[in-house]
Amino acid sequence: MGQIVPDLVERYLASLNRQSDGVLDEIAHEGVREHLPLINAEVGALLRVLTAACGARRVLEVGTAIGYSTIWIAGALPPDGLLITMETSEERARRARANVERAGLSGRVSVMIGDAERLIAKVAGPFDLIFQDCDKKLYGPMLDRLVELLRPGGLLVTDNVLWDGEVVPGHVSLPRKDPADTRAIADYNVRLSAHPQLITSTIPLRDGLALCVKRGARELNPLLESLERSTRALRAADFNENASR
Ligand SMILES: C[S@@+](CC[C@H](N)C(=O)[O-])C[C@H]1O[C@@H](n2cnc3c(N)ncnc32)[C@H](O)[C@@H]1O
Repeated sequence: MGQIVPDLVERYLASLNRQSDGVLDEIAHEGVREHLPLINAEVGALLRVLTAACGARRVLEVGTAIGYSTIWIAGALPPDGLLITMETSEERARRARANVERAGLSGRVSVMIGDAERLIAKVAGPFDLIFQDCDKKLYGPMLDRLVELLRPGGLLVTDNVLWDGEVVPGHVSLPRKDPADTRAIADYNVRLSAHPQLITSTIPLRDGLALCVKRGARELNPLLESLERSTRALRAADFNENASR
């Protein structure tokens, strides 16, 4: 039984999710067999929705494992889109590349091997979406650089922010996680909620996902500004369709 969402609800959500495919299902089975901490298909579907919703062309993923979430995200990118994903384990990165190839997405995915904390200093932004899913103790130390790499209006999505409910005081009677990880995630959640450049909402899907939008899109988006101006003008004009007939 999941600690956050009851099994029955998880099964119901799974029954509504028709977006998976043969390659994704095979990787998910490998993940279960090898006890790899992969997202599930419902989180994959959410990542796909978010990628499409923000019109992402450039995505950064931190924590590839064997490419399961990578394929969910890359599948929603346009053909000329790019997803850069970072993985410290060479063996996992090699399997991720093979899986991405099998999914027919190698043209849109670049797997970088190494410690993401160092690699993020070398990549150039801006990214439309960043998916953070690596070592939980690195969430805090990497946050400022990831926000810097994100375009205004872009999305930072972080997995495992409820940590089997262990970050919720009093929710779990027998904690099983490394207390240092639990503390790191709890501190990270507080930082996200108070971050001056982020608007954050946390959703209790699977192990909890923090969804953050980087502020500042308005200043850089003249189209949005002109839409706002015309909305204000319409309001000010006290528009009445019947009166003009
Ligand atoms: C939770 S798994 C990623 C799962 C993957 N996002 C998915 O759902 O399909 C975390 C991965 O991050 C990798 N990792 C941990 N610390 C890292 C670091 N400092 N740099 C790069 N990768 C790291 C681990 O080897 C592991 O494969």
